Amino acid sequence: MFEHVTAAPPDPILGLSEAFGRDSRPGKINLAVGVFKDAQGKTPVLESVRAAETRLLAEETTKSYMPIGGAPAYGQAARELLLGADHPALAADRVVTFQTPGGTGGLRVAGDYLKQNHSGKTLWVSDPTWANHHGIFSAAGLTVKTYPYLDPATNGLNLDAMLGAAQGMREGDIWLLHGCCHNPTGVDPTEQQWGQIAAAAQAYGVLPLIDFAYQGFGAGLTQDAAGLRAVLEVNPEALVCASFSKNFGLYRERVGAFHAIAKDADTAASVGSQIKTCIRRNYSNPPAHGGAVVTTILNDPALRTAWENELTAMRDRINGMRTDLQAGLDQRGVSLAPEGNGFITRQNGMFTMSGLTKAHVQALKDDHAIYIVGSGRINVAGITPDNLPVLCDAISAVTGG
Ligand code: LMR
Repeated sequence: MFEHVTAAPPDPILGLSEAFGRDSRPGKINLAVGVFKDAQGKTPVLESVRAAETRLLAEETTKSYMPIGGAPAYGQAARELLLGADHPALAADRVVTFQTPGGTGGLRVAGDYLKQNHSGKTLWVSDPTWANHHGIFSAAGLTVKTYPYLDPATNGLNLDAMLGAAQGMREGDIWLLHGCCHNPTGVDPTEQQWGQIAAAAQAYGVLPLIDFAYQGFGAGLTQDAAGLRAVLEVNPEALVCASFSKNFGLYRERVGAFHAIAKDADTAASVGSQIKTCIRRNYSNPPAHGGAVVTTILNDPALRTAWENELTAMRDRINGMRTDLQAGLDQRGVSLAPEGNGFITRQNGMFTMSGLTKAHVQALKDDHAIYIVGSGRINVAGITPDNLPVLCDAISAVTGG
């Protein structure tokens, strides 16, 4: 029965973690998958999360099914974190929110919803983008095309090319944007550039779909939402897929939120009813635990303050590693871009698009047991004071200094 089935290629990101697990070399370093590590190389359970879990364990009354859309209190807390509690779209009841199994689960629900309700429209993703975007939306049956994003000369944003491509999108097409901390490049538009992107979406009549997986990892919770809020200033309708994997460290609990923002409450309700149908046919209703943790923390002033402090500490550690990586490469006379290594500290979030070639990436793995993604993406959040010199030496060796 199964003879005709051939092996699928390993996942470009999670497949590397599997290979890393099988690697028996001492001192191996995993900078592939986007997971935060502390200075000791551990991915901790946040103290605020542990406190919320203790409370939930004592107070939980049932394991009965969740509503299809998840807990209403979670939806409200997630919306308010995204838009700010006083956003006019909330008062107008124009936003519907679905608790999803991670950001990935939300993206797949978005894909199913778009396939069934926005027939014949193309979904545009940046080149490059998170490798799984292609897989998720193709699996949902959508046509996926790319728009240019990165300028290889500077490792910065090529806004002109991006806006030029937007002009070629057809009305009703879907424009996937990364809300902050672009994955894999770490290159984000400035506030002014967000204004131009928002205006282009409005002018060309495309539907923004914002993947927002790193709120708080760039400059701060509010600052990181500025681009998304700018898009909503001029575009009354948009979709947003948010994740709490990174900012709450809840990776394995699979907790995300899919928001549809519509021009009025009736339209939002109709869109929401279609999204519910997609969810029911997929996983029926979401897992409860991670969402309950997030709701508990966001709605308790003391826990929220503790969480925001922990989030700031994570962000500061990553930015410190960016500075040290740039300095470590400079000290070794290694330059990863024509204009030097300054891009490393200009980029935001967990990742840096290093400019290392496929051959460099292969040599890092084969000769130094250092794993980064094939595109040259390095998870800066996995660099520690201990492994930094090893990494810099290895990059120097594979690039020839
Ligand atoms: C990543 O890009 O490494 C993370 O978002 C984890 C994943 O699911 O790929």
